[in-house]
Amino acid sequence: MNLVFLGPPGSGKGTQAKVICKELGILHLSTGDLLREGVKNGTDLGTQAKKYMEAGELVPDKLIVDLIEEKLASGALNNGYILDGFPRTVPQAEALRDMLAKNKSQIDKAILLDVSNDEVIKRLSGRFFCPNCSSGYNYPAQMPKQEGICDNDGVELQRRPDDEEDVVKNRLEVYIMQTSPIIDFYRQASLLFEVPAEGALKEITNALLKVIKED
Ligand code: AP5
Repeated sequence: MNLVFLGPPGSGKGTQAKVICKELGILHLSTGDLLREGVKNGTDLGTQAKKYMEAGELVPDKLIVDLIEEKLASGALNNGYILDGFPRTVPQAEALRDMLAKNKSQIDKAILLDVSNDEVIKRLSGRFFCPNCSSGYNYPAQMPKQEGICDNDGVELQRRPDDEEDVVKNRLEVYIMQTSPIIDFYRQASLLFEVPAEGALKEITNALLKVIKED
């Protein structure tokens, strides 16, 4: 099963992809996570990506397409996957289609997680994470036992720099201008499925699994 998760920042792509990949035994590939890891480790890719990420802009297509091509060549994607945060522009979607076609492969479904801007802003302004163990929290729904401190290891929680209000506003604009055209790209290829993604996590997971498993 080769899937793409689409949706605005904060729509729950990462949260849901983690759970569903575990359930289906397929790989979760998040370009955002790979880039953040690169920034943290000071790799070439991370160094080049940092300024774009901090401003809520997209990293240039070539850097991202090369990263995915590398993953494909390594065989890491051979047993099924969810792509979370890629593709994010029409040129990326075309490059993915062409890279997969060379391996006689393709995307089976592109699933759009549908949420309102108000919900996105609420979720991202409440998001905190532990820089040590990566545990995620969301205020006020998922509070740690002691405010600002990770339950697992007592480390002080942080916010993603791109979750600051002005950057979120730009990420939403970038989503509308540069990413939302790929909704039509997948619709025209008859691969697009839409799932309402507000409400209880478990119910959204079930709705996604239903769409994924349908013929
Ligand atoms: P990336 O990390 O992909 O950012 P994003 O798409 O903006 O994704 P988020 O992680 O913010 O949202 P999500 O939809 O995964 O939601 P999540 O599950 O985390 O990319 C970051 C940057 O990297 C980009 O801005 C760009 O610069 C660069 N980049 C990455 N890929 C690129 C590409 N292909 N091309 C170019 N540049 C690229 O949930 C968010 C919060 O909401 C969490 O706290 C979660 O707990 C909470 N939540 C989730 N579901 C619910 C629910 N049902 N109810 C209540 N809270 C919920």
